[in-house]
Amino acid sequence: MSVTALIGAQWGDEGVSHIADMLAAQSSIVARYNGGDNADHTVTIRSTPIRTHLIPAGAFYPHVANVLGAGMVINLQSLAREVDELNGYGANLTPDRLKIDQAAQLLLPGHIALDGAGETERGADALGTTKRGIGPAYTDKMARVGVRASLMSDPVLFEAAVRAHVERSNLRLTRDYQQPPLDADAIAAAYLQLAARFAPNVVDTTALIHAALDRGEQVLAEGAQGTLLDIDHGTYPYVTSSSTITGGVLTGLGVGPKHVKRVIGVAKAFCSRVGSGPFPTEQHDEMGDRLRGTGANPWDEFGWMTGRPRRTGWLDLVALKFAARINGLTEIVLTKLDVLTGIQPIPVCIAYSCSDTPIPNFPSDLSVLNQCAPIYSELPGWDQDISRARRIEDLPLAARVYILQIETFTGVRVTHVSVGPERSQIFEV
Ligand code: IMP
Repeated sequence: MSVTALIGAQWGDEGVSHIADMLAAQSSIVARYNGGDNADHTVTIRSTPIRTHLIPAGAFYPHVANVLGAGMVINLQSLAREVDELNGYGANLTPDRLKIDQAAQLLLPGHIALDGAGETERGADALGTTKRGIGPAYTDKMARVGVRASLMSDPVLFEAAVRAHVERSNLRLTRDYQQPPLDADAIAAAYLQLAARFAPNVVDTTALIHAALDRGEQVLAEGAQGTLLDIDHGTYPYVTSSSTITGGVLTGLGVGPKHVKRVIGVAKAFCSRVGSGPFPTEQHDEMGDRLRGTGANPWDEFGWMTGRPRRTGWLDLVALKFAARINGLTEIVLTKLDVLTGIQPIPVCIAYSCSDTPIPNFPSDLSVLNQCAPIYSELPGWDQDISRARRIEDLPLAARVYILQIETFTGVRVTHVSVGPERSQIFEV
């Protein structure tokens, strides 16, 4: 049938995995197309939230094949941990149910060490990466010295490639960062074991996806990180190193535009960002704290690895319209609308003022964006608890006006709204 692309429409953490969980049930393949274990997704099994970083949302649907696509960078140690954990909950991720593309890049220990060393050296100008090695792994891919998953089936070639990776990394660690070298023997031994474990999972997933499409099946492309973190169109250099947008679905999975019939952008009813970089509608006061939550539940705005509070602020419609355009969004899923309950009025950004000139479009160029101040429109708020709303008619008029404003500004329909973390709290508009 066709591919549905599910994409974060802001700076990540929009709640993509909750929607992926819902759509996975109707798909025969769920495929990640970008990034690595820098992603933080949640699947809820028997009311227990389980965090995943690499494995797609189809893990707990027995009929779904889960694909780690060619556009990814895969840390095999994290993958092993995650598979073991999910299997402990009954996921049964056999090689039939978890497929690694032959062209996917492996993220190796030198990448992690270099990411950390680079961030430390940047000091106050650090990018605020997850220190998972993502940037250095994509650097090696583009420099054409990366280690592809297909090499895992040949232990001799694989070991040589891993040792060459450690040698290259050690040169930079010791020369550029005055760090101790990594232990090549220990890494080679550990990775030979990991390769033996995961070699049976490696296939041509592009062929697999096209076979499913030919049979008339549905494929879900699950995005990680958000549009504004895209390597090309995001707020460079404060971005991740992969293509997070619809273009990344095409290259990361090997499908053409004609296959992608739905492009769903997931957007929070406000905005958040982790790490450094511009965020025009950020609120530094108690309103920012209120949008963030206290951290008492996993739905609050705190980073998964370090627990660092996410930066929070008002909905930026200029940025959302930009995301709608560059992704070709066909629909928007609006998450966390309940968080805005009780705020009166609710500002939303409808333009930027740059050096006193209003500009209607999102400038991803940092030198322009840094000069911009948001221009707000104030929308009426509501006080009623909306967490039990299950139909659009259950929402107060002001909440419906808020949704309508998003649709009018972006030109994209809001098809689903979430009013809480439970699966039952997402409803169709
Ligand atoms: P990296 O992807 O670890 O290189 O980090 C680059 C930037 O992307 C940093 O600002 C991170 O905080 C951000 N980032 C990476 N993954 C995520 C995510 O899953 N959600 C939100 N931000 C992310």
